[in-house]
Amino acid sequence: MESMKTSYKLFLQKLLILSMIALFFFVLMTGCIKDKQSSLIPLPAKIEYAAGRFHHEPDLRICYAAAELEKPAVLIREILKEHGVASTVIRYNESFTTDKKDIKLRLQNKAEIHPEGYILQITRDGIDLKASSPAGIFYGIQTIKQLVIQSPLNTISIPSQTITDFPRFAWRGMHLDVSRHFMPKEFIKQYIDYLAFLKMNVFHWHLVDDQGWRIEIKQYPLLTDKGAFRKETLVGHYSDSPQKYDGTRYGGFYTQEDIREIVFYAQERFITIVPEIEIPGHSQAAIAAYPELGCTDDTVEVRTIWGISPYIYNAEESTFMFLQNVLDEVIDLFPSKYIHIGGDEALKDQWESSENVQNKMKTLGIANEQKLQKYFIGRIEEYLLNKGRNIIGWDEILEGGLAPTAAVMSWRGTKGGIEAAKHGHYVVMTPTDYCYFDYYQSKDTDEPLAIGGYLPVKKVYSYEPVPIELSEDEAQYILGVQGNVWTEYIKTPEKVEYMIFPRIFAMSEIQWTLPENKNYKDFVKRVRSFEAYLQSKEINYATHIFRE
Ligand code: ACM
Repeated sequence: MESMKTSYKLFLQKLLILSMIALFFFVLMTGCIKDKQSSLIPLPAKIEYAAGRFHHEPDLRICYAAAELEKPAVLIREILKEHGVASTVIRYNESFTTDKKDIKLRLQNKAEIHPEGYILQITRDGIDLKASSPAGIFYGIQTIKQLVIQSPLNTISIPSQTITDFPRFAWRGMHLDVSRHFMPKEFIKQYIDYLAFLKMNVFHWHLVDDQGWRIEIKQYPLLTDKGAFRKETLVGHYSDSPQKYDGTRYGGFYTQEDIREIVFYAQERFITIVPEIEIPGHSQAAIAAYPELGCTDDTVEVRTIWGISPYIYNAEESTFMFLQNVLDEVIDLFPSKYIHIGGDEALKDQWESSENVQNKMKTLGIANEQKLQKYFIGRIEEYLLNKGRNIIGWDEILEGGLAPTAAVMSWRGTKGGIEAAKHGHYVVMTPTDYCYFDYYQSKDTDEPLAIGGYLPVKKVYSYEPVPIELSEDEAQYILGVQGNVWTEYIKTPEKVEYMIFPRIFAMSEIQWTLPENKNYKDFVKRVRSFEAYLQSKEINYATHIFRE
């Protein structure tokens, strides 16, 4: 009896010890699995983790087969170099074998991988990146970059994993208004780098507005000699009373040479620049330069205050000639399929009170000012179609009837986008409530001045760009989604950074990641793991979600 008791006690002791050992290993394993997870933004379509890690060898090689992959190979070398890891680029052929832990780049059959997708295999023995296009290779490289920067400096140590990735939307855009405040060329390149890092592919460049014309047009030098400069600028908020001005001349513009350089820079990063030339409203700077384009005899100056200007182009043939000549130079500079023609917030008062405009409408048989706007957009559409380009415009272009091939940017909510998609027009969703990065991102009392609104990161992240009102077929017309940065209250590149980071991370995930893979808590954790990188790049990010 006594011996049975003893052996039972011994059994219990053993069980306890074994359980403790098991618990110890369980905790250790969970730690390892946690340690294995990489933080990628936007989150890829699929990640499968495996045992082990890739550690780089001292004589790391980046190998490529097709000539068009030389540049991407060099790009990886530059990324590694910036991380403090030296490597060499070599070209190989089919008979190439190696027992070294190389990074290999390959293009493969188009049918097997999404045109912008890639497959990235990371094992103890090397890194293998495949895609069916140079764009896919580029996005794979951005993933490699994100993994590399999460390794300690001067080393590469990445958990073994296979990433199979592709984007959800074809239009993954960010916009920047350089009219209200001019942003230097070097910053525009940096902005493009931010987009590329997050696998975005459209930079919507808002180049002209009432407060400044910022693109050199050779045929019309006054557009920049006069139109790119304003006498002074409003200080504080538009709604302040009394309104105050700074008394300082302000301006700047991009030469055509600057623009070619930037377009090339963007192309190398698989980013299409969509230029915006506003018609028929938001044209006060152009009218200040060439008063004959306007509807009044006023002496017009480049606008010094925010809000909507009453100045609008007249409907003379000479004005259409002007716009066509401007667009000729624009399409010569920008190879994008789409040219953004604005179309928003065009006040019609000057059309109503102008005898010339009213006579023109009678001659053309145009019944009202809405229809005149439609006529305007339609003529420009036709002109650009003949040049092989399509127009995209803000959702006001739906009013009075949409031009037959126009795409729509839905900003006043989603109604315009829904209507356009239902009529078989392509749509980019950018509703103010979710996509306007000029809105406040916190309710902190010391939050820097912004236009208004409230758009925290979490709300950006919650946005679903395909409205439930659309059928599956209609949803195909949702090209994608875009974040907008209007700069009335954003004077400097540093403030642009503050307004976009970290909201741009959320935007990229809406654009790229499948909705079933989205998870806000996990997203915040991933954003936090980029903090050291943002600091190393001296990016002026907003810190709210790093402190929550
Ligand atoms: C816009 O925000 N006016 C398009």
